[in-house]
Amino acid sequence: MLTIAGLFAGYGGGDVLRGVDLTVAQGSITCVVGPNGAGKSTLLKVISGLLRPRLGTITFRDAPIGGASPRRVLEAGIVQVMQSRNLFPDLTVRQNVEIGGYLIKDQALLRRRLDEVSDQFPIVRERAGERAGQLSGGQQRMVELARALMLDPALVVLDEPSMGLEPRAAAAMYASVRNMAQTGRSILLVEQNVRAGLELATHGVVMETGRVRLEGTGTEVLAHPQMRALYLGGTIEESGVTDQEAAQEKTR
Ligand SMILES: Nc1ncnc2c1ncn2[C@@H]1O[C@H](COP(=O)(O)OP(=O)(O)O)[C@@H](O)[C@H]1O
Ligand SMILES: [Mg+2]
Repeated sequence: MLTIAGLFAGYGGGDVLRGVDLTVAQGSITCVVGPNGAGKSTLLKVISGLLRPRLGTITFRDAPIGGASPRRVLEAGIVQVMQSRNLFPDLTVRQNVEIGGYLIKDQALLRRRLDEVSDQFPIVRERAGERAGQLSGGQQRMVELARALMLDPALVVLDEPSMGLEPRAAAAMYASVRNMAQTGRSILLVEQNVRAGLELATHGVVMETGRVRLEGTGTEVLAHPQMRALYLGGTIEESGVTDQEAAQEKTR
């Protein structure tokens, strides 16, 4: 449903993305992992229209969206949940979720969507009138996910959704992501927690220095011998390979 081909992009001082090719299949949970600075967040910014590609194409449901404005990308059916906390702490939970539906002019539709996401994320109803800033990090993440669903997106893009969450909150968040996929949405997420991310994923992608290095099912990528050399998520330690051995393997 989303196809990226030959994508180059950066911030003015040279390209950060250097020829990214990536496909997100309908109904998949596609998880991108890779070392810090690999360009994962940059890739998501280009998809959302926050950064223009210098070269290459992005096609979503047969329409070109490369270089489109963030608003057009939203209207096309792609919603991104950004990397850092981004609720308005002084607005209520309900107000924050309603903001996710700001493109909806039809009031009846807006109420119906609010009902739907409240069914899916009970916290939206339970804590409706509370200031969002008073919720725990995990609860705020849930409200962010609820807000993202207000436009009924076909593709939900998540940048490190587990960041800052304690394990139980992270597990609840992953369960919600899985539920989104089961209800027909496609998911593209970036995860720092490599193991959790790839276990959740139907399709795994490893990025390094602005390119896709490795691809396969989540399980395949997790088990791939090269993963050790890429210094990811404690796999070097788990595999019993010392840093020095891994470094030698990397230079080979
Ligand atoms: N706003 C920015 N301006 C200039 N350089 C940036 C900006 N954001 C990220 N970069 C650079 O782009 C590279 C990739 O960053 P990023 O996409 O955030 O990586 P990742 O999400 O994989 O950790 C890094 O070298 C980073 O310093
Ligand atoms: Mg990042």
